[in-house]
Amino acid sequence: MSDATLFEQVKDEANRADPYPLFARLRETPVSRQSDGTYVASTHAAITSLLHDPRISSETLPPADRPKTGNPVSDWIVKPIRDRITDAHRPFIFRDPPDHDTLRKAVMHEFTQKRVQALRARSHTLVDEILTKHAGSGNFDVVDDLAYPLPVTIICELLGVPTQDEPKFHGWATQLATALEPDTMADEEARAENSRTFETISDYMSGLIKEKRRDPKDDMLSGLAVGGGPDVPKIGDYDLIATSVLMLVAGHETTVNLITNAMLALLRHPDEFARLRDDPTRAPRLIEEVQRYDPPVQFRTRRALTDIAIAETTIPKDSDVILLLASGNRDPAEFAEPDRFDPDRTGTRHLGFGGGLHYCVGAPLARFEAEAALTALARRLNNPRLAADPPPYRPGSALRGPKHLRLSIDGIR
Ligand code: HEM
Repeated sequence: MSDATLFEQVKDEANRADPYPLFARLRETPVSRQSDGTYVASTHAAITSLLHDPRISSETLPPADRPKTGNPVSDWIVKPIRDRITDAHRPFIFRDPPDHDTLRKAVMHEFTQKRVQALRARSHTLVDEILTKHAGSGNFDVVDDLAYPLPVTIICELLGVPTQDEPKFHGWATQLATALEPDTMADEEARAENSRTFETISDYMSGLIKEKRRDPKDDMLSGLAVGGGPDVPKIGDYDLIATSVLMLVAGHETTVNLITNAMLALLRHPDEFARLRDDPTRAPRLIEEVQRYDPPVQFRTRRALTDIAIAETTIPKDSDVILLLASGNRDPAEFAEPDRFDPDRTGTRHLGFGGGLHYCVGAPLARFEAEAALTALARRLNNPRLAADPPPYRPGSALRGPKHLRLSIDGIR
């Protein structure tokens, strides 16, 4: 029987740099009840099964409209609807079918090949511009200097947010991402601050959507605002606001962490860094291995809609269920030598982008942004060395990644 405080220890900042030994202990019981009544699924098999189980709900915006919060209206619900306290206008990552599927379908329709390819090319240009700006410098912070600016620009360009407004999005995205952290959202003040940010960004998006309706351009928000044709669901204004905020938040800090976690793994495995420099076509397999070995989204929360019997445990109806994706990725029953960083693995079924209905819609974007960043860093940084190992981490345990990744370098080529 594993220790029922293990997940508390995972959330403890003292364990942020290396939670993986705790995951190994959690896996001794594939689905374990923690002392706060939460259930944690930690093996690849249990997580995969629950990701595909319709008895599990995503309508959990932590900690959801349940009595223990005492403050249900502070969840992310677009404004006029807030008074009626309904789930109807939350972002679709926090929704179940059929609403989830309708909204996701409309978004997928706007992820055109043409848009994705244009942004892919744009990522390479942006990365090169950023690195050139830092040429001649003796140090480089992968987080502040590259990993942060890149995704926010790409997501703003995808949505059609004017360039001059991009700086506002950095702050908003970082603040809103705390909604994925169970501990932050259990704190009333933190929740209230998060909700205020959601309102501010909702107001901004509402104005922008009106503008796109009046004068549509070739961007995702215009496409969603005017509707994409007979087979594509039309989204109402409030759902459109919630969806655009979701795209911004989901596409930002996650990608920052992927680039940074990848660079950290490469600098800890200098042979792999050199191989990437000599052969940039290794980038895709490297990125998949980082998504397995050290994924930005470590876990997601769900709720049991009914009693669920799984792996010798019964999860009672209404329990919170943590799907510990990052632990499933280190499960020796699924991956040979799971603690070894090995980009040459084949056929890996990592959980870094989730699975089932909510599988990440932005995975292609995340992959090419990381590819642009890593290939350029390998090609252009001269003799990079980590200033601190482990680096300092941001507080989040669900969305986990270094706060800074400072390097000493002998210049940028
Ligand atoms: C969903 C990870 C980048 C948009 C997810 C999920 C994961 C994930 C694990 C599943 C959530 C769940 O099951 O509850 C990541 C990682 C990324 C990344 C690690 C970067 C490395 C992006 C980007 C975008 C994006 C760039 C937008 C352009 C979304 C959306 C969902 C989602 C909208 C919700 C899908 C749904 O509910 O159907 N992501 N993501 N993500 N992601 Fe990503």
